[in-house]
Amino acid sequence: MRTSLAVVLAAGEGTRMKSRLPKVLHPIAGLPMIAHVLKALQAAKIDRIAVVVGPGYEEVAKAVAKFAPAASIHVQKKPLGTTDAFKAARAAVAGVDDVLVVFGDTPFLTRDAISRLRRPLAKGAAVVVGGMRPADPTGYGRIITKGREVVAIREEKDASAEERTIGFVNGGIMGLAGATALSIVEAIRNKNAKQEFYLTDAVEIANKRKLPVTAVEVPADVVFGINDRAQLAKAERRFQEARRAEAQAAGVTLVAPDTVFFSHDTKLGSDVTIEPNVVFGPGVTIADNVTIRAFSYLEDASVASGAIIGPFARLRPGAKIGAGAHIGNFVEIKAADVGEGAKINHLAYVGDAKVGSKTNVGAGTITCNYDGVNKHLTDIGKGVFIGSNSSLVAPVKIGDGAYVASGSVITGDVPPDALAFGRARQVNKPGRAREKRKK
Ligand code: UD1
Ligand code: MG
Repeated sequence: MRTSLAVVLAAGEGTRMKSRLPKVLHPIAGLPMIAHVLKALQAAKIDRIAVVVGPGYEEVAKAVAKFAPAASIHVQKKPLGTTDAFKAARAAVAGVDDVLVVFGDTPFLTRDAISRLRRPLAKGAAVVVGGMRPADPTGYGRIITKGREVVAIREEKDASAEERTIGFVNGGIMGLAGATALSIVEAIRNKNAKQEFYLTDAVEIANKRKLPVTAVEVPADVVFGINDRAQLAKAERRFQEARRAEAQAAGVTLVAPDTVFFSHDTKLGSDVTIEPNVVFGPGVTIADNVTIRAFSYLEDASVASGAIIGPFARLRPGAKIGAGAHIGNFVEIKAADVGEGAKINHLAYVGDAKVGSKTNVGAGTITCNYDGVNKHLTDIGKGVFIGSNSSLVAPVKIGDGAYVASGSVITGDVPPDALAFGRARQVNKPGRAREKRKK
């Protein structure tokens, strides 16, 4: 088994994003770009990951620690070019067979592309270039070949008019044999239009030293790099299109696929139907035979089989909806366990609560969970009926089979099977309305 290291370059300034947030932290499907890259490296079973960040990019280091806790972080003090960035991680290179250099802003990187890059290393190559043939090669480093030999990579700004006609370009991923990687990059100079130390010059240096250099082709889609907000939006669209297709293939009906937005981790059962304009935040699990009706928003929630959510429902973090339950329009559920077959159909807020199976929560019910300082639990039993427009002031417990009269403000526990009224008694004054009209 050959040992492997991936060096993720993420110290560039990302100026074209025009953002205070480091570029690699901009999310795609709710996950920072760099986390997509780290996931691909993990899927490819790369032994070690080293991430190169710029000064003041603690936030990037934090995200890396979250998604790849074993990765090492290296700081590149000034953005002097990709070679200089690579050298910041030199301590990680010692004793590794395969060194892969990838960029933190290519979120579609795949396990397959990484394996393709490693194969020639196993056969003795010193440098492997991950080339691609995009529809438009403008802006990319052109791969100059002579027969089957890879001669050099020429950056756009340094390329001649003839070289610019080359369609085979550097995708930005590179493989280096660990044994020679450092001595090659040490020899790279910055004699180019941008006066940067280009890692791509490793090709010419290896050639001069008669070390084997080769290129493999990877799909342009896989190394699609993000430099600005338009490309960020394009990446999001690509992710969504792929995820929608995957859901459809797995037995999910999307009535209007273009209007449904998934998170990187959305889990869907089969025979799920999703109506138009539904958005999934992170952490949602949907079981089989669930219907999510139009204009619903779900995050960090689970929905058991046969439940119906929406239209216009909001499931917030910690919402757990039981099998066959109904959550209707303008209902917000947060940190609440809703039992099997329970119904919360209209205009309600149920937060920090338990709702037993077969319980019916009437229109306009509010769990008053917050006293301004702390959150408290509302514990509603099984087979309970909560009349419309009731306020349940937590902490409060409503026993199995109890009945709460409409318009109640419930501040004390209700025993099982009891009927609770928590409202002023109605008073009728006969004839008073007519008298008022006469005045
Ligand atoms: C680079 C390649 C080019 C290739 C293209 C593919 C080089 C010299 N050029 O060009 O051949 O076609 O990617 O997208 O490698 N970075 C640092 N520190 C630095 C400079 C860059 O960490 O000092 C990082 C950036 O954050 C980024 C990556 O390196 O993740 C690539 O840098 P970028 O400036 O985007 O290179 P390109 O001009 O796109
Ligand atoms: Mg780039």
